[in-house]
Amino acid sequence: MTLEVELGELAVDIAREAGELARTRRQQGVRLAATKSTLADIVTEADREVEALIRERLRTARPSDGFLGEESGAEAGDSGITWVVDPIDGTVNYAYGIPAYNVSIAAVRGEPDPRTWEALAAAVHAPAVGETFRAARGHGAWLDGTRLAVTEVTAAGALLATGFGYDPATHDGDLATVRRVMPIARDLRRMGSAALDLAYVAAGRLDGYFERGLQPWDIAAGSLLVTEAGGAVTRTDAEAARPLLIAGGVQVHARLVKILVEKNPD
Ligand code: IPD
Ligand code: CA
Repeated sequence: MTLEVELGELAVDIAREAGELARTRRQQGVRLAATKSTLADIVTEADREVEALIRERLRTARPSDGFLGEESGAEAGDSGITWVVDPIDGTVNYAYGIPAYNVSIAAVRGEPDPRTWEALAAAVHAPAVGETFRAARGHGAWLDGTRLAVTEVTAAGALLATGFGYDPATHDGDLATVRRVMPIARDLRRMGSAALDLAYVAAGRLDGYFERGLQPWDIAAGSLLVTEAGGAVTRTDAEAARPLLIAGGVQVHARLVKILVEKNPD
């Protein structure tokens, strides 16, 4: 077994256990723990508890690896591998009882920085719907037993997804971005979970996805799913406060880059 596959299996096992914990806590009732960057940016007690479980499982299985989690921060390791974790991606869905939330776990080589890291393995597990998306570098992307492949745009246009940040001050700009891409869209989705948006691109359930201001844990696992399913992912304006992530099948990705980056450099 290659290192990538081994890390991928570990990510899947832990994501499923963590997902069960999140689902159980959801059934027991969601308790808000705090707000973060804005009032809309919430963290529940379950986010923290689930991340603690993942961190503990990884520490036991791979004590030399580093860790970067949304809720509990970073810890350097000495193996060259770091786990990048979002315990609950789609927290607002989770709080409202919408099933589109997931546990997202990736192993990356190098600094835990999306500008330079090499993603090795990924798991995105959506416990409320019982789906586990996984990828290992060089070994493809899978939804349970099915190998995933991105789609290409049809004559009817691309089914696109996007997301909006929690800061109301950014909404006008994000809506202007939506307006620019609508000419190539058959329709647009806003599901509320970046990792699932990326997993759905990998699975051919979406043709493309774009969003500004995502954090490393939002994109680490999902981006590997897309590239291992034959798609492309670009992160532009990497030095800016709100980098733009564009993902899709090769043609749709290229069209989005042309519209959002080349024609309208920010
Ligand atoms: C959020 C979700 C959402 C995206 C936000 C993310 P969180 O992650 O992925 O879809 O639009 O930008 O912050 O807060 O639910 O982990
Ligand atoms: Ca989260």
